[in-house]
Amino acid sequence: MTASVYVVSIDPQASTVWWANRITDLPFDFSQEHETPENLAILKNTGARVHVVANQKGGVGKTTTTLNLGAAVADVVSSSNGLQHVFIDTPGSLQDENLLLEALKYAHDVIVPIPPEGLAFDPTARTIQKVVEPSGLPFKVVINNWDPRDGTADLEDTKAYVDAQGWARANTVIRRYKIHTRASVEGRVVTQYPRNRVAMEAREDFFRLALELGYGGTV
Ligand SMILES: Nc1ncnc2c1ncn2[C@@H]1O[C@H](COP(=O)(O)OP(=O)(O)OP(=O)(O)O)[C@@H](O)[C@H]1O
Ligand SMILES: [Mg+2]
Repeated sequence: MTASVYVVSIDPQASTVWWANRITDLPFDFSQEHETPENLAILKNTGARVHVVANQKGGVGKTTTTLNLGAAVADVVSSSNGLQHVFIDTPGSLQDENLLLEALKYAHDVIVPIPPEGLAFDPTARTIQKVVEPSGLPFKVVINNWDPRDGTADLEDTKAYVDAQGWARANTVIRRYKIHTRASVEGRVVTQYPRNRVAMEAREDFFRLALELGYGGTV
């Protein structure tokens, strides 16, 4: 049976495939397509909603968001109606802009992860202004990797910056948890985390985000 979620990576760096290959019982279908991005054209006829995760700044959490949001959505959306949601992980570099542009052709919306640090602001603005906004697609900026132990100053600065640009911003903030960092090595996604309190908190952010973005789940 087809899974309700399909995750595609078009990042030539292929860290998504490295991670996905370590996961037993992947909760979604997965493939790596950077060499053949034109294969994405088949997505047009599936009726599925296609979400592109993009930021040409490296290391902001695109892969972490793609795999974990994909897992959370697969967990709440039944596969009985076939494929419903596609998540595309994209390159964190300006050189591979053509791959990102190809993915946007088939997308319904864009998710832009941003860490709560000033150094990421200008590169994120470049991606949004030069690539995302010209596509005409709806997009949402998602603050990722906020460590509550650092206090709220950087978080508030980031929210203020995003809002001042007039960009749509998800209310859900993905917090920083060591378990997310370790998950790639351990071959896990959030739905496979152990059932202790901290792991539950960590996974909750992705379920809240899925709900907020309207990708499945009901309140
Ligand atoms: N919320 C989080 N909590 C803990 N660690 C995180 C979180 N988000 C990202 N990381 C860690 O930060 C690093 C970069 O994340 P990730 O690989 O998802 O970014 P990326 O945008 O896909 O990078 P690239 O542009 O290189 O593809 C990884 O080590 C990842 O585990
Ligand atoms: Mg990545």
